[in-house]
Amino acid sequence: MKDFFAEQPRIPLCFSPTPLHRADRLSDELGIDLWLKRDDLTGPGAFGGNKMRKLEFLLGLAETQGVEYVFTFGATQSNHAMETATACRRCGFTPVLYLVAVVEPDKDSLRGNMLLDALVGAEVHVVKMLPGETESEADDRALEMARKQMRALEAEDHHCMEVPIGGSNFTGAIGFAAGYVEFKEQLEAMGIGAFDYIVHSTGSGGTLAGLAAGKALCGGKEKIVAVSCSMKAPEYEAKVAALANQALDQMKQPNIRISPADFTVDRGYFGEGYEIPSEASIAAMKRLARAEGVMLDPVYTAKAFAGLLDHVKTGRIKQGQRVVFWHTGGAASLFAEPAIVGNLSD
Ligand SMILES: Cc1ncc(COP(=O)(O)O)c(C=O)c1O
Repeated sequence: MKDFFAEQPRIPLCFSPTPLHRADRLSDELGIDLWLKRDDLTGPGAFGGNKMRKLEFLLGLAETQGVEYVFTFGATQSNHAMETATACRRCGFTPVLYLVAVVEPDKDSLRGNMLLDALVGAEVHVVKMLPGETESEADDRALEMARKQMRALEAEDHHCMEVPIGGSNFTGAIGFAAGYVEFKEQLEAMGIGAFDYIVHSTGSGGTLAGLAAGKALCGGKEKIVAVSCSMKAPEYEAKVAALANQALDQMKQPNIRISPADFTVDRGYFGEGYEIPSEASIAAMKRLARAEGVMLDPVYTAKAFAGLLDHVKTGRIKQGQRVVFWHTGGAASLFAEPAIVGNLSD
């Protein structure tokens, strides 16, 4: 297959290809052919995840620009922020995180990703939400605060890079186009035929944009179903398609175009909202753990897997069809605040 990524700066960070394996017991239970693409195992630390694919290209670019400080954003339990901090340490950049407290952390007893952020020595700024403020208003305020710090550092001749929430700009999306190519090459190497569906969790949209771009580059046929972890605006699909097209432009593929018709965003399974567990997401986590010994995370993959199970139950995914669930990671938030995790004990 042509190397579409040869001209893009890249630092290898992932243990790749990530494993792809069949979920035998759950396949039998559900009557489908279910496989797992294990991006929870990207490394380099014990808690990998989908962001490492994006960071290979984002930090590759940072290296060419002589960057010293990498700034990024998210919620306090952001997997992306933790993965960015981890990857920065591996590459010698200093990570600076501005994290919005959707769920207030206890600074004397850090949990989950915040504990890992502290362990790798990231500079963490917790941005408390103001009364009446929405999450996206708090995100904007965090960005403003970070930019002020970046301007001050740059005035002292330091070089900074701003990585957006979720690493979802076109550079990050290229990482997931490369992920799709890896998947295709893996299928070929393993002698496995084509799938009917790829199901995964979508948040900031870079994973989806990259998968759609990669699929178009390879002429893939799977239907991509992206299950949303939170409420998305009606223009979400158009924004994801635009991001995919920017990534394709950057790879000098202007004749390959993505439109919202190339994927499905399912908004049916985020429950009451971001970081709020639902009955279905808790059940999904238990079901995969107890059938296959594979751990989902409460915020993203549990909700996506709940969607997959419901699509099978309601016949949208038909008996006998071949489905790959792209496990995007997040297991560190299993050890986050109980309000995020839900009750997994029974
Ligand atoms: C575990 C996990 N799955 C899925 C996603 C969604 O990926 P994206 O933001 O690229 O849509 C995230 C993003 O933070 C994540 O941490």
